[in-house]
Amino acid sequence: MSWIPGSTSLRYGGDYNPEQWDREIWLEDVALMMDAGVNLVSLGIFSWAVLEPREGEYDFSFLDDIIGLLAGAGIDVDLGTPTAAPPAWFWKKYPAAHPVTRDGRTLGFGSRGMVSPSSPEYRRASAAIADQLARRYADNPAVVMWHVHNEYGAPISDSYDDYSVLAFQRWLRARYGTLDSLNRAWGTRFWGQVYGEWDEIDAPRVSASVSNQAQRLDFQRFTSDALLACYVGERDAIRVYTDAPITTNFMATNCPSVDYWKWAKEVDIVANDHYLVAERTDNHVLLAMDADFTRSLAGNRPWILMEHSTSAVNWQPRNIAKRAGEMARNSLCHVARGADAVMFFQFRASRFGAEKFHSAMLPHGGTGTRIWKEVVQLGSDLAGLSRVGGSRVTASVAIVWSIESFWALDLEWRPSVELGHRERIEAFYTALWGLGVTVDFVHPSHDLSGYDVVFAPSLYLLAEDDAVNIDGYVSGGGNLVVSYFSGIVGDNDEVPTGASPGALRDVLGLSIEEFLPLYEDQTVSLSDGGSGRAWADDITLGTASAVATYVDGPAAGKAAVTRNSRGSGSAWYVSTKLEGADLLSFVVAALDAAGVSYSAPAEGLEVVTRSGETEDFIFHINHSDAEAPLLAAGTDVLTREEIAVGGTVPAGGVRVVARPRVVGETAVRTDDIHQMAR
Ligand code: GAL
Repeated sequence: MSWIPGSTSLRYGGDYNPEQWDREIWLEDVALMMDAGVNLVSLGIFSWAVLEPREGEYDFSFLDDIIGLLAGAGIDVDLGTPTAAPPAWFWKKYPAAHPVTRDGRTLGFGSRGMVSPSSPEYRRASAAIADQLARRYADNPAVVMWHVHNEYGAPISDSYDDYSVLAFQRWLRARYGTLDSLNRAWGTRFWGQVYGEWDEIDAPRVSASVSNQAQRLDFQRFTSDALLACYVGERDAIRVYTDAPITTNFMATNCPSVDYWKWAKEVDIVANDHYLVAERTDNHVLLAMDADFTRSLAGNRPWILMEHSTSAVNWQPRNIAKRAGEMARNSLCHVARGADAVMFFQFRASRFGAEKFHSAMLPHGGTGTRIWKEVVQLGSDLAGLSRVGGSRVTASVAIVWSIESFWALDLEWRPSVELGHRERIEAFYTALWGLGVTVDFVHPSHDLSGYDVVFAPSLYLLAEDDAVNIDGYVSGGGNLVVSYFSGIVGDNDEVPTGASPGALRDVLGLSIEEFLPLYEDQTVSLSDGGSGRAWADDITLGTASAVATYVDGPAAGKAAVTRNSRGSGSAWYVSTKLEGADLLSFVVAALDAAGVSYSAPAEGLEVVTRSGETEDFIFHINHSDAEAPLLAAGTDVLTREEIAVGGTVPAGGVRVVARPRVVGETAVRTDDIHQMAR
């Protein structure tokens, strides 16, 4: 299954919650959807209480009616299963399904997403409603795809209820086979935690001090698997009746509890929700990162932007509204990075409930609003971009993303509070974004051979096999860039024998005698004129040579940045936190040494290419307040204008330049880099 059946163009629409409205509003909505060019809506995501008012009693009249109206207007349906919000009767009858937090609080009814994923009652009830929906609508031609649940893992994921404890014990038996092997893997001789029976093992609740870290890591893995089993249960119930694509909406870089590499294998099409962190001035860069990760999860096949917002959300400390043009830039950035569907939460703004201050395609103010006009314009732009659909984005540079490593690093008692995987990944991604380098994300077990450079900005946990894979990549001619506190522990958060960095010692050609975390405000100077913060290592060089040394600080005179030749490749190591222009120069050095070619765009201009069979589509998204030079000439797909060499993209504007496929690009100029670093 590669894409939504019946699609001739990019898909456009959003979540639609008609059960919150009277029928005359539905008629108005369907007409307005047609005005806006909407061709797909997600229905029924929170409708369980309406569809199954009492256990086993179903009432599909509202869905029959609205699906009929939408079908009459030529609008397709992405049919949701409503299992993120079990009805009141469910809780009355099955109170043991309530989730329990790590510190022992039982969470009550009244919001959503609050169920123990290991509750057998929930598993049964959710599969039953999925079965009923699929039985009824599988053959309805308007229902082109299925949307299971909503954002697994949010707002909570791990539960410490009795069902979860039993399921965790079963999961551990399957993983370890014997208690001996579990005791070894978890290092339970430390602080006297040895287990003699499986049922002595509890979920890792809040304890007097730091809990067993391997146990906590396994509980994260278990939780991701338990949630995935919920998805698979519903998906399989639907699959009995249909071959249409089935998916669930991810929160790619923003879900701390789910291993999406594993999940991506279980969905027919990857779908993602993305919301800006409104107060961050670089949120367009984070958006690009999220879209690149989503595309990578999708194996570079087209993916669905299942939700984003037309303007402000309602759940951040300061819900900053999007300015004119920002919504289009956001949407088209997702398209530039591989999305073939642009969807919002939600079509019509709610009048009641927790989300009444959240923006929508149709705001409370109606069709006279700027937002509505921009929504209609976006619908028309996406229709104009239909030939972009199915084209691909290629990248020669990758960043490693391993949620297991993040889980492990986030546990307590690490050598410094400054060890943030997210901070380092964002820093390296931002440098590459500024250079106009498109990035894929990879898991350390993936085949890396197609990439000129692989960055591992913070890869604390590295399983032995994955380290072998990375070593093979380098020996075979790849270029690896590793930053500090990477390769420190194995699969169970255990330190491998010998000096750090464990399984990366040989590939990096060095060993670390001691970690040297810095004081909060301390800066160390490097021999290349740069400086570092947060961290330093006491490095003993093996086959690697020093590219820069520490001038001062606890590692004065020792190597700070190193490079090792291994086989036909090379591996860089940077042992301190480089920022701004220092990080940019380092990234440029690594790219140049690897022979990566790229064209650095003007500051604030985002340039991404999607390649079709005969044409390239070069998206230019200008996030700045100044007009910027285009990097390509051709035809503007949005305006149909011919653009000669020397054309520009207006401040805040977007141009998508189509040109026959060409290969070859200009190299970045050093003065551009300095410009950007400022
Ligand atoms: C998403 C969720 C939607 C809506 C939206 C608001 O996380 O899936 O149902 O709540 O947030 O931003």
